[in-house]
Amino acid sequence: MCVFRLMLTVPTTNRWVLILYIGGGSGYSGSTQCDVGTVCVKLNDWYSQCQPGQAPTQAPTSTISTTVSTGPTTTSTATSTATAPATSIPAGALTRLTANFGTNPTNVAIYVYKPANVKNNPALLLALHGCGGTAQQFYSATQYKQFADQRGFLILYGSAANDMNCWDNTGANSLKHDGGSDSLALASAIRYAISEWGVDANRVFVTGMSSGAMMTNTMAGAYPDLIKAGASFAGVAMGCLKASLTPPEGWADIVHRAYPGYTGPYPRMQIWHGTADPAVNYTNLNEQVKQWTQVHSISQTVTGSASGTPKSNWSKRVYGTGQVEAYTGQGSGHGLPEAGTEIGAIEFFGL
Ligand SMILES: *[C@@H]1O[C@H](CO)[C@@H](O)[C@H](O)[C@H]1NC(C)=O
Ligand SMILES: *[C@@H]1O[C@H](CO)[C@@H](O)[C@H](O)[C@H]1NC(C)=O
Repeated sequence: MCVFRLMLTVPTTNRWVLILYIGGGSGYSGSTQCDVGTVCVKLNDWYSQCQPGQAPTQAPTSTISTTVSTGPTTTSTATSTATAPATSIPAGALTRLTANFGTNPTNVAIYVYKPANVKNNPALLLALHGCGGTAQQFYSATQYKQFADQRGFLILYGSAANDMNCWDNTGANSLKHDGGSDSLALASAIRYAISEWGVDANRVFVTGMSSGAMMTNTMAGAYPDLIKAGASFAGVAMGCLKASLTPPEGWADIVHRAYPGYTGPYPRMQIWHGTADPAVNYTNLNEQVKQWTQVHSISQTVTGSASGTPKSNWSKRVYGTGQVEAYTGQGSGHGLPEAGTEIGAIEFFGL
C-alpha cells in the first residue's frame, strides 16, 4: 500500500512554511482541494497534484507552519593534511557545479560542498531536498555540512528543475538504470565526482527528505552499482508513485526491474519516519522496510532495537545484520530530518 499527499516546502525569511497539497495514491481518501493559486492536475489514477494555475473557488486544503532548526554550529576537528581534491571548487562554501558533468536530461542543478579539510579520495554524500526545495535550502536546513567539516567528505546537493521542484519518482525513465530523467542526472554527477575528484567509489551515499527521500530509494534501486547506502527521511518505497493502473508488483521486483541483469550488491538502507506525518503517511516506513529487506533477502523480523536514539522520542530497529534500519519518531511530523537525527545517517554510512 502506498499512501501519501504531496507536500511543498516553501522557505520564507526565518522559517519554513509547509503547505499541504492534495495527492493521490492507493488508499488516499483525503481532501482533493488545491490551495489558492494552484489547480489540481491529474497525472494518473494514482497521483494528482496541485500545480500553479487558476485559483480554485474553494478554500485552501490546509496549511501547516513549522520551524526547522538550521542546526548547531560546530567547530571543525579533523586534522587531515592531504592535498585537497576538486581544486576547482572553493572550500567551505556551497558552489554551483558549472562544468559539464555528463548527461543531464532534466537540467538538474548540482551544487558541491567541499570542506576546508577535505580528505584525499573522499567519501561522497548526495543530499536531496523535498518538493519545492532547492540545494541551498537543504544545505541550510540540515547538519550535513557540519559533519562534512568534521569528517572531510564531499556533499553534492541537487536542485530539481521540474514538477514544482519535486524529483521525478514516477517516470519510467527515472525508475530505470541509465533510463534518463532526474535519476540519470544525479548519477552523472556522482560519476563525474568519482572520475574527476577521486571520490572513493566504495563510499558513495544518498539521503533526502520527502520527495528527496523517494529519490533516495529511486537512486538506490536504479543505481545500486553507484550507491552503497541510503537514508530516506519521510519518503515512500521505490515505485510507490509509479504511473500504473494495475496493482503494484512486489516492492523487490520494482527494484530488480530497475536494473535487469545487475548481480552486484544492493545498498544498505535506513528509513526514518514520524508517526504524526500529515503528508506522507507513517505506514510508508514499513513498506520501505518490506522492500529493502526483501531485496536483501533478509527477514522482516527485528534483530535489534534501541529507544531514545539518536534523540528522545526516536527509536531504532535493525533488520538482518544491519542491511536495513528503521527509525520511528513518536509524534514527529513531516519536517525531517529533525536537528540531531542526521548523526544517525552519518554513522550508518560510516562517514
Ligand atoms: C496514516 O494512515 C492510517 C491508516 O490509513 C491512519 O489511521 C492514520 O491516521 C494516518 N496517519 C496520519 C498522521 O494521517
Ligand atoms: C516526546 O513525546 C512526548 C509524548 O508525546 C512529549 O510530551 C515530549 O515533548 C516529546 N519529547 C520531545 C523531545 O520531543
